[in-house]
Amino acid sequence: MTCFLGIDVGTSSVKSILMDMEGTILGIAQRKYDVQKPRADWAEQDADVLWCATKETLRELVQKYPRQAADLAGIGYSGQMHGLILTDESGRPVRPAIIWEDQRSIEEIGEIYRLVPPSVFNAVTMNTLSTGYLASSLMWVMRNEPQNYMRARHILLPKDYIRFKMCGEYGTDMSDASSAVIFDTAERTWANQIISRLGMDMALFPECHESYEIAGMLTESCARATGLRRGIPVIYGGGDTLMHEVGTGMISPLRPWVANIGTSCQVTCAMNSPLCDDLFRTNTFCHVKEDLWMLMSCNLCGGAAMKWMAKNIFSGLSFGQLDEMAIKAPVGSDGLIFLPYLNGSRSPENDPRAKGMFMGINMSHTGAHFVRSTMEGVVYSLKNCMEVLKSVVHAEPETMIASGGGARGKLFLQMEADAFNKPIYTTKEAEQSCVGAAATAAVGTGYFSSYEEACAAVVHFSQTPIEPIAEHVRIYEEYFSIYRELYGHNKDLFADYPANSPKE
Ligand code: XUL
Repeated sequence: MTCFLGIDVGTSSVKSILMDMEGTILGIAQRKYDVQKPRADWAEQDADVLWCATKETLRELVQKYPRQAADLAGIGYSGQMHGLILTDESGRPVRPAIIWEDQRSIEEIGEIYRLVPPSVFNAVTMNTLSTGYLASSLMWVMRNEPQNYMRARHILLPKDYIRFKMCGEYGTDMSDASSAVIFDTAERTWANQIISRLGMDMALFPECHESYEIAGMLTESCARATGLRRGIPVIYGGGDTLMHEVGTGMISPLRPWVANIGTSCQVTCAMNSPLCDDLFRTNTFCHVKEDLWMLMSCNLCGGAAMKWMAKNIFSGLSFGQLDEMAIKAPVGSDGLIFLPYLNGSRSPENDPRAKGMFMGINMSHTGAHFVRSTMEGVVYSLKNCMEVLKSVVHAEPETMIASGGGARGKLFLQMEADAFNKPIYTTKEAEQSCVGAAATAAVGTGYFSSYEEACAAVVHFSQTPIEPIAEHVRIYEEYFSIYRELYGHNKDLFADYPANSPKE
């Protein structure tokens, strides 16, 4: 039986799946890892930790599903976006990866905009700079670690390093390259003039390809390390949000709209022209083929807020246990409102100094209220993202697809239906990014003639949607109007906060 391998190099874990041509996941393996925070506003990962974890998932799949692994016809990748990996001439990382959650590069953004004014920079990249983007992190390394910058020969994004380890070729794809935010997003090429004006070495930047193109073949050494067959075609793949969109069938303009809760959370839609928000409150990135782009409104703290609550506040409760607590509190958490800016804010404010907060605490609130309110805050942030997206494309979907870890629990799904006031559908397979990566490999190796054909075969939606409940809709509308005010009222306090850059 022909099958494809999809690898999703995420922020908290790597997942690898074996998928058949109907989109059924035949086998899955996952290995978790952590984000290193040498300082509270830094976020780093050792690229070789990601690679070792990936190898373990592959060995597990080969061991458990030898027949399916032997039938593999292609490998595709999905990966956490924006991160910077610098490798030396022998392909070894010169320092830990600076990943998308990192907030150290506020000064470097100022320096970049001094050299290339925002009117030029943002128009070409179709985005405004944030901390954690490859461009900002690279400027930080140039200014703060010149010895590492001098040793570097190649720039890679996280999943590109894993692909390099598997097929030996350097390169990236258009979606991840545009997420570096030093890319001419309309022309689908590196922003050469900006790169040279910033004094960055163009030779560091890898070749860019479309997601479905073949990057190379699985090498002998990777075959020895994993048990996979040498010579399997290896496809470029794409950023996790984009692979996710393939895995939810979002490959046509404005159809469907997807609300995802992973480590971060975002609302996205596809477009057949490179449109961006005049105010740059959203991101415009290249989608998985030549004539497609994606508009995204992203909050940096989605599932991460739940992880924080489970680990730091309730000393290790599982997500299931948190869910059980949350249902004990009423819809709207009796007025307790959470602003989920634990990693700063991307959309719509783009403020790395923004902070999380609970508003409206009184003596009646219990742990259950805090858990529920954390979930509701994440959903309000998605609603906020949705409002921005609507104002950019001047359209609104009738239904939504919910995806990511957040779409697995009934409670989050009902909250989304109620907050959006729209029927919510889910996909049959929960691992949408892995499915998208495997489907992209199937397109690239010619098993499907197009993404349309691939998605029709592998993406299956739930038959009955989760419907909004009128009373909940009313409550959420009322509290959302307060939620929307929280950032604006506290913006100045966030900016001058004494704990803006503490050591951990
Ligand atoms: C998207 C973003 C995150 C990462 C998470 O812009 O920052 O979703 O891609 O992996």
